[in-house]
Amino acid sequence: MSIEIIPTGAPAGAEIRGVDLAQPLDDATFAAVENAYNAHGVIFFRDQNITPEQQVAFSRRFGEIEFNIFGERWSVPGAPEIVVVSNVTEDGRPIGIRRAGENWHSDMCYAPAPPRGTMLYALEIPDLHGLTVGDTEFASAAAAWDALPAPLRQRIDGRQAIFDFSSRKRAFPLTQAERDRYPPVRHPIVRTHAWTGRKCLYVMRDDCVGIEGVETEEAEALIAALADHIVKPAFIYRHQWQAGDLLMWDNCSVQHRAIQDYDMPLRRLMHRTTMGGAVPV
Ligand code: SIN
Repeated sequence: MSIEIIPTGAPAGAEIRGVDLAQPLDDATFAAVENAYNAHGVIFFRDQNITPEQQVAFSRRFGEIEFNIFGERWSVPGAPEIVVVSNVTEDGRPIGIRRAGENWHSDMCYAPAPPRGTMLYALEIPDLHGLTVGDTEFASAAAAWDALPAPLRQRIDGRQAIFDFSSRKRAFPLTQAERDRYPPVRHPIVRTHAWTGRKCLYVMRDDCVGIEGVETEEAEALIAALADHIVKPAFIYRHQWQAGDLLMWDNCSVQHRAIQDYDMPLRRLMHRTTMGGAVPV
């Protein structure tokens, strides 16, 4: 079966058919997958059946694995590259990161070199009387930039924001060592995608605490307005998960959030890998 790429029709997202990720991909197939990933920002493959080793091997085709700070608490036994994302508790203890990504964000934007991309492999998906819950939404930061009025583009292009790891509210407390690992960093609020050359807005309400050279009040208003603009319905693809989905997103061209509309006894279980990236420009 040959590879088929089916865009979702939203500004982000494409389904890829005709690929079995349990097998190593030849170079031509991988190039087609990588081109689709760069072009659409989100790609997904249905009905996959892969081991942790196969997920890690596929992730490595896109870059070195980035070891997530929370992996130290919640990685897959025997596969430290994979972080468990789950609402499930067993014997009173969470088996993975709970409520991961419930607010709009781009992964590890607080790091000096945030990851190129993130991959989720869906093992268990909650089902509420036949309704899918636990969807993930993706917003195209490239389409959001394209839609900005020219004077606002001029006002913000070339500016840097301050990203602060400790500022975001989480479902669990951070340890002091976790706080110390990521002191505040500066990144451009308009990034250029390394493969497509498209400009992408890079602003999040929870992580950006200021804009260099802009007074606090105006900076806060700009951060809020730009962050809200990125997540307007026109820029969004909403993924309804099925067990066996492998989905990956680009942390420059899209932002995402996980909809937390389910709870135990409904179970959601994902294996997440993160692929390293470069300092944003
Ligand atoms: C994340 O932000 O890494 C989690 C997304 C999800 O669980 O859908």
